[in-house]
Amino acid sequence: MASHSGSPVYSRITGTGSYLPPERLTNADLAARLAAAGVETSDEWIVERTGIHARHFAAPDVSCSDLALEAAKNALQSAGLQASSIDLIILATSTPDMVFPSSACILQNKLGIAGCPAFDIQAVCSGFVYALTVADAMIKAGTATKALVIGAEVFSRILDFSDRTTCVLFGDGAGAVVLEASSTPGILATDLHADGKHVGILCVPGHVSGGKVIGDALLKMDGQAVFKLAVGVLESSARATLAKANMTDADIDWLIPHQANIRIMQSTAKKLKLPLEKLIVTVDQHGNTSAASIPLALDASVRSGKIKKGDTLMLEGVGGGFTWGAVLLTY
Ligand code: UT7
Repeated sequence: MASHSGSPVYSRITGTGSYLPPERLTNADLAARLAAAGVETSDEWIVERTGIHARHFAAPDVSCSDLALEAAKNALQSAGLQASSIDLIILATSTPDMVFPSSACILQNKLGIAGCPAFDIQAVCSGFVYALTVADAMIKAGTATKALVIGAEVFSRILDFSDRTTCVLFGDGAGAVVLEASSTPGILATDLHADGKHVGILCVPGHVSGGKVIGDALLKMDGQAVFKLAVGVLESSARATLAKANMTDADIDWLIPHQANIRIMQSTAKKLKLPLEKLIVTVDQHGNTSAASIPLALDASVRSGKIKKGDTLMLEGVGGGFTWGAVLLTY
């Protein structure tokens, strides 16, 4: 454990926040919109295969950093901090405002602050656990004391609305935490992985060159391949993280997996021998919001009173890359 001035330094979440854009589409709303374009789906199919009932979509003039700003302001308020005291900003997103600069820099300016390091992390749906792990390491190294860690996405921008196998799954939103240096834990253990040979099963293959988008800039997914990989790595990463902290399944009060599909989440809970009451579920109301899904679920559960100070949480991300990982913490 890192030690500054003789006493160990941990990192601890001291505030949470989130934001959903106001336009909410139920499955029936989306099905009607898609039907008008000749794409057939149904509430029944979406609920049965994914557990999703509704998602939010941002208005065309609303960007990733706009959603991030609202979530960050909520998190700062819940931590009782002014933006000026933040000394690190890490924003996880795959749908940034611009090619560059980072959405974290744009957010920093919108927060009215300057000077502290600010950068994006691109690990798709694992982005928030990647960002939290990096912020934890920077706090333990003594290079930051009050970090804003955000996941924010406008996935609606990269959806192919002629592909019913993907466009019904995703939504827009943002979640944030304030992570502060603390003399008590906090983050207990972290575990990150990637395997780049699976690039093709979940990607947006286009890129920008010569002032044009080259290739297809819409999301492609082999759902079944992603499903199979996700179920395996969510179990192994949870177990690896517990082992690092000398803890067991039984120590987990709340499991907050990436909110992609209720069937993947329930299977993970079952493998970890957790009763389903310990599984935090917001995918039903938000759809898959990629890097925003975990902090959105965390904030919703803190604000509803489900998650209380002192509870042990297992956060788990999995997604494009392929990337996956977990963060075990005392809230
Ligand atoms: O965020 C990163 C992590 N992402 C994930 O974790 C996603 C992982 N994958 C999944 O969640 C699931 O694989 C899906 C929800 C994407 C798909 O569920 P599935 O049970 O694997 O369905 P499927 O792809 O096997 O499709 C079954 C049937 C097909 O019809 P046929 O070939 O059996 O006639 C599809 O054409 O369902 C059809 N289908 C639909 N029908 C109505 C696919 N999408 C739709 C739709 N509405 N939206």
